[in-house]
Amino acid sequence: MGGYGAEAGVLSAVGSTPLVELTRLLPGSPFTLYAKLEAANPGGSIKDRSAYVMLSEAIHTGTVIPGRSTVVESSSGNLGIGLAQACRYFDVRFICVVDPRTNPQNIAIMRAYGAEVHTVTERDPATGEYLPTRIRRVRELTATLPDAYCPNQYANPLNAWAHQTTMREIVDSLGKPPDYLVCTVSSCGTLRGCSEYVREHDLPVRIVAVDAESSAIFHEPVGRRLIPGHGAAVPPALLRLDLADEVVHVNDLDALVGCRRLVNREAILAGGSSGAVVTAVSRLDIPAGSTVAVILPDSGARYLDTIYDDAWVEVHFGDVADLWKDDAMEVARC
Ligand SMILES: Cc1ncc(COP(=O)(O)O)c(C=O)c1O
Repeated sequence: MGGYGAEAGVLSAVGSTPLVELTRLLPGSPFTLYAKLEAANPGGSIKDRSAYVMLSEAIHTGTVIPGRSTVVESSSGNLGIGLAQACRYFDVRFICVVDPRTNPQNIAIMRAYGAEVHTVTERDPATGEYLPTRIRRVRELTATLPDAYCPNQYANPLNAWAHQTTMREIVDSLGKPPDYLVCTVSSCGTLRGCSEYVREHDLPVRIVAVDAESSAIFHEPVGRRLIPGHGAAVPPALLRLDLADEVVHVNDLDALVGCRRLVNREAILAGGSSGAVVTAVSRLDIPAGSTVAVILPDSGARYLDTIYDDAWVEVHFGDVADLWKDDAMEVARC
């Protein structure tokens, strides 16, 4: 990504992810669609960017001292993995606070990088969510451990700043700004960074935020969500409501259908938020001749036990396979 010491080694591979044209996903659509494949980051997701920038700046300013400090963060997956990777590289102890819904594979990956994982088991009595309990545990650990530091992805401006690069890369790859940028939201780092880049450079890009139905970010009533990644139980401090020109809410089933379409039609095995993004695009009223860029945050490899497991799908959604059964035919028509 550059800008923060441009490390040699694995962290120098963060960013500069491919932007590929999707010609089969929405056959007959009058616009051109491109996807930024963030799974190509070395830790496997978009959150490598935030992890690298937040940690390297904390080291640069002396807030974190390799070999002495402990980084503590709440994450159920991708940021935790990104921080585990960056902390391993910089020789910093890392404790990730997770909850019982965290995918065991993500925990195993963090541990493989040498991270310690603390699991909170109690839901917050007021909201019924784990997130407030996780945040409380992070505060306790940060207050009691010597030289502890919490990057706090939900409020850290560097989380957003890291994604100015994401937007710049899209513009550079296309050779012009896209007419639409469609991205999902959780901490809102991606949305804010991309949106600030667009506004600071006065680019004519319409920004569409894709949130989970039942997420609290854009003030819908909070409810149960099955697919992790996008959405949040509490509106993050990085959120500003004017960052997006348009917001689309996508439910779990439609995100899942988007994932199955992506793999069936484009051979892209992507995570749940990517499915939500492509479903959202299919619902937008996009003028003919437009160029649309979407950000696909991670790979489907972390969702093999859920989104890509037919038995799991049937338990949670019933017999829905018909929703993507025509995909092979659509591809043949392309
Ligand atoms: C899979 C996935 N999609 C989307 C997001 C949302 O990105 P952001 O936190 O920048 O809003 C995340 C964040 O962790 C994620 O892991």
